[in-house]
Amino acid sequence: MIAKHQRGQGKTEMLNTTIMRGQDLSEAQIDFMNKQRLMEYGENTKDFKKNELASIFFFLDQAESVKAFGMLKPLNIIHDGKQCPILGISNIIAVEKGRGYGKLLMQAIKEYLVSKHMNGLGFCDHEICPFYVQCGFQIIEGLSSRFQYLYAQQDGQKEKLDSPRGTIYFEGRDKLASKLLANDEPIYIDVPFW
Ligand SMILES: CC(C)(COP(=O)(O)OP(=O)(O)OC[C@H]1O[C@@H](n2cnc3c(N)ncnc32)[C@H](O)[C@@H]1OP(=O)(O)O)[C@@H](O)C(=O)NCCC(=O)NCCS
Repeated sequence: MIAKHQRGQGKTEMLNTTIMRGQDLSEAQIDFMNKQRLMEYGENTKDFKKNELASIFFFLDQAESVKAFGMLKPLNIIHDGKQCPILGISNIIAVEKGRGYGKLLMQAIKEYLVSKHMNGLGFCDHEICPFYVQCGFQIIEGLSSRFQYLYAQQDGQKEKLDSPRGTIYFEGRDKLASKLLANDEPIYIDVPFW
């Protein structure tokens, strides 16, 4: 699926957002994201070919040059004995920063969440939180430490986040946040931290 954006005064800038499943990513797209992640973080903890086949990828591009990308990962949250499907916000990178590309990307992600009536949820360092707020997402403080990965021991993955982070939230139809904030119970997740 491709959405078109137009911006700028006088000289207009045509930008497209391509939305696709992980299973349909090309080798070139995977390589591009791997390289960007390495440049950004000094390491790449994601295996797009193995772990992200069901994830939904967003590429914001202009004249076939990618300006920003991100993904939503389908997963389940278990809280108070109830299971709730969510889309995990992850892998958000603006290739060229400070030019509004990150915000346009998040707008496309927001529109997708609205169209599917889904809750979007992710984690970010405190210094990045204002960016998500500017993009119309909420930041819930004090929630991230309650998340616990169910199969950490079997998988050798981390059970909890190393340190508290901001929880990025976009409200879906079932208003997940108010349920999570109604008590202090652990929030279990069925995939490793995304
Ligand atoms: C975070 C990131 C995606 C932002 O993308 P960007 O294209 O540079 O941001 P934009 O130019 O679209 O900025 C949108 C708005 O957010 C604000 N903003 C952007 N980055 C910000 C930051 N780090 N702190 C505070 N505000 C920020 C901008 O000032 C702008 O505000 P405005 O709408 O009032 O003008 C980008 O800096 C990036 O790729 N960072 C490295 C990877 C990363 O940390 N990703 C997030 C993982 S959780």
